[in-house]
Amino acid sequence: MTQSYFVKTFGCQMNVYDSERIGELLEAEGYAAAPDAARADVVVLNTCHIREKAAEKVYSDIGRLKASRRPNGIKPVVVVAGCVAQAEGAEIVRRAPAVDVVVGPNAYHRLPAMLRGAGAVDTDMPVESKFMQLPPRRAVIPASAFLTVQEGCDKFCTFCVVPYTRGAELSRPADALVAEAEALVAGGASELTLLGQNVNAYRDVTTTFAELLARIAGVRGLVRLRYTTSHPRDMNDELIAAHRDLPQLMPYLHLPVQSGSDRLLKAMNRAHTRSSYLNILDRLRAARADIALSGDFIVGFPGETDADFADTLSIVREVGYAQAYSFKYSPRPGTPAATMGEQVPEDVKDARLAELQATIGETALAFNRASVGKRCDVLLERPGRRPGQLIGKSPWLQSVFVVSPSAKIGDIVTVDLIDAQPNSLEGAPVILTRAAA
Ligand code: SAH
Ligand code: SF4
Ligand code: F3S
Repeated sequence: MTQSYFVKTFGCQMNVYDSERIGELLEAEGYAAAPDAARADVVVLNTCHIREKAAEKVYSDIGRLKASRRPNGIKPVVVVAGCVAQAEGAEIVRRAPAVDVVVGPNAYHRLPAMLRGAGAVDTDMPVESKFMQLPPRRAVIPASAFLTVQEGCDKFCTFCVVPYTRGAELSRPADALVAEAEALVAGGASELTLLGQNVNAYRDVTTTFAELLARIAGVRGLVRLRYTTSHPRDMNDELIAAHRDLPQLMPYLHLPVQSGSDRLLKAMNRAHTRSSYLNILDRLRAARADIALSGDFIVGFPGETDADFADTLSIVREVGYAQAYSFKYSPRPGTPAATMGEQVPEDVKDARLAELQATIGETALAFNRASVGKRCDVLLERPGRRPGQLIGKSPWLQSVFVVSPSAKIGDIVTVDLIDAQPNSLEGAPVILTRAAA
């Protein structure tokens, strides 16, 4: 009988991409996609280690899965993949003996062999790229698709596990990426988001990141191009100019700053200052006046004072982020910040997070309100709650609700933005600009 699988994804978009590829890999082996974890013979937990909460969630999931039975009375096979697998390895099997397979983010191309019984733990970081050994992309692809172009991180921010879980920075060959982009567009994608832990550190032997963007922007049928996540240190003039020169490149950039205080940025080993970061934004806005900005922030990093935190609030206001993500500092095993003195008490972190999120809410609402009255294209990605309602993304990555009984997912419609909320806008459809492939 055909075995079924389900992949549950935690963490960042790189994991979303990996989960897609794991699905393709298992389908090439004859597995069928199950509608949910409860009905799958093989459940892959593609995990995240970035904060303690994310990592601990995995263990409660494992317990729940192992207590469950399939209709035929058999227990599911449980695979732990992703960054917890890489960070904890065989420790996972010691703590949760019910786990059948542990496979790191650079070894999952070997998952089929492991499921056939060839080894239970594989956290190698092989130099030969897993990408060469994965099956071709699916024939049917969503309208907005991800493409991992770079993996790993050499930056070693003192709070972060990624350099340990994903290894050193590695860029995929440009020709292979252009070929994969062509396959994704042929399969129905009209928007691509290039992914990397430090995507703008991309560098192939012959190709800079800006050149890669230009090559992929030129793929026939591609309408929109985005990339994430970038590090301020790798925002160079050539990349900034791409925001002026490539019409496919959407006016949006996620550029985490983490803190507005130079003292903390130094302790975080961010290799940029408040003013060098703001200077990059000035240059970006000179290249593309309407660019929307997004960021990540950590509150309660060791030693953070009220004055440091005030600097974070002030940079949020100064930049006027269209959206931003904020997190309470979570000490991670093996990282330098975890053993620094002056850890900030939990109640202080809670209060700062609430205040920061309220401030981000204000700048996001102001950004959305300033969009009301604009006419723009929206790529429709999913159904809304009301009948005939669809939700899509504006060029500035805002969620836009559109009521149009004739439109369908994958269409690009031109709309007038007529109303704004902190996290979304309403668009009145003007015309269907491009029908779904
Ligand atoms: N490579 C990306 C982001 C990786 S992790 C970058 O450099 O921007 C995504 C976000 O998680 C980070 O930007 C940071 O804000 C947050 N983060 C990372 N480690 C954390 C920790 N130990 N505690 C709380 N937040 C953390
Ligand atoms: Fe983590 Fe810093 Fe690397 Fe981003 S740049 S992945 S925050 S170490
Ligand atoms: Fe999490 Fe790994 Fe991504 S730790 S944020 S899944 S790179």
